[in-house]
Amino acid sequence: MKKQILREKHKRVTGKKRIAGLLLALLFGLCTQTALAQELPEGYHWVSEGGPSGAKLVDGQGNEVDYATLLQENPNLANGASGPAALETADAQQQQTDEAKESESLGTETETEQETNAQQETDAETESEEANNDNPRGIDPQKPMVALTFDDGPYAPVGNRIMDVMQQYNSRCTFFVVGERVPLYTKELRRMVEEGFEIANHTQNHKYLNKLGAAAIRSQVEQCNAAVASVTGVTPTLVRLPGGNSSRTVLANVNYPIILWSIDTKDWSHRNTQKTIDIVKSKVKDGDIILMHELYTATAAATEQLVPWLVEQGYQLVTVSELIAYKGVTVQPNTIYHSFH
Ligand code: NI
Repeated sequence: MKKQILREKHKRVTGKKRIAGLLLALLFGLCTQTALAQELPEGYHWVSEGGPSGAKLVDGQGNEVDYATLLQENPNLANGASGPAALETADAQQQQTDEAKESESLGTETETEQETNAQQETDAETESEEANNDNPRGIDPQKPMVALTFDDGPYAPVGNRIMDVMQQYNSRCTFFVVGERVPLYTKELRRMVEEGFEIANHTQNHKYLNKLGAAAIRSQVEQCNAAVASVTGVTPTLVRLPGGNSSRTVLANVNYPIILWSIDTKDWSHRNTQKTIDIVKSKVKDGDIILMHELYTATAAATEQLVPWLVEQGYQLVTVSELIAYKGVTVQPNTIYHSFH
């Protein structure tokens, strides 16, 4: 149903897009240079230091910088023209330019194809809604499967690489995102939803929930869910605790299933592609939940090698929610899960 709504939406905008296409192509061509010129000050970059935590902006000396203050001082960074969204913005502009060219050359063929697809989907849904909607990738519940999970994003330069390789191997994964980063990467988040990746909740500000009171814990979770829903229309159903830190109060106030992990790659700590690969290869088994982080190019590179390897070993790569469903488990709120073996 959700897919169909998205498809309808897509169809509606296609016409307008085509008309605006050439104009946009021209306009973006002119704008791209300006946008790229307004990058973060030299040496500034986003990191996750001192354990698995949310991204922090640091200057060339590694001193933490408040992004909100930087935005005030450099208004040109706003609106995704630069700052952490710079790469994504440039990518988006390129993609829209490409799309404009594409729709021009494909003409009505694209539209006809979409109509046919939509019709076929409606037919299939009527015949076997379950088969079509619940198992679109033909996952075999009898065969091994694992869930790769990526925390602390969104972060488009890494997230898009992860999604690209997943797509190539008919695979999906779960992104546990931090709510305060959601407005910076809206396009990436919409891609996740449109392509069947799962967005899950990693709190609003990546605070260790065991240090907070009941109301603040609930607020951290609900704010993140609201942020994701406002951008994608989809509300996350699973929560991962920052640092994995729990307490009796945390358990009592996180009213969703809490998903931790069975394999910790420690990618945030060593930032080494081969180490991440070796840890997964030496430990992986059916039903595992593998912890990685979306912030590092080393992790993107590791994923690009791990996905084909895992598929070759016979593992199906699924989201956490898919893992739960295909393993036939019923999960409960206020409860911690490490794996679904
Ligand atoms: Ni984290």
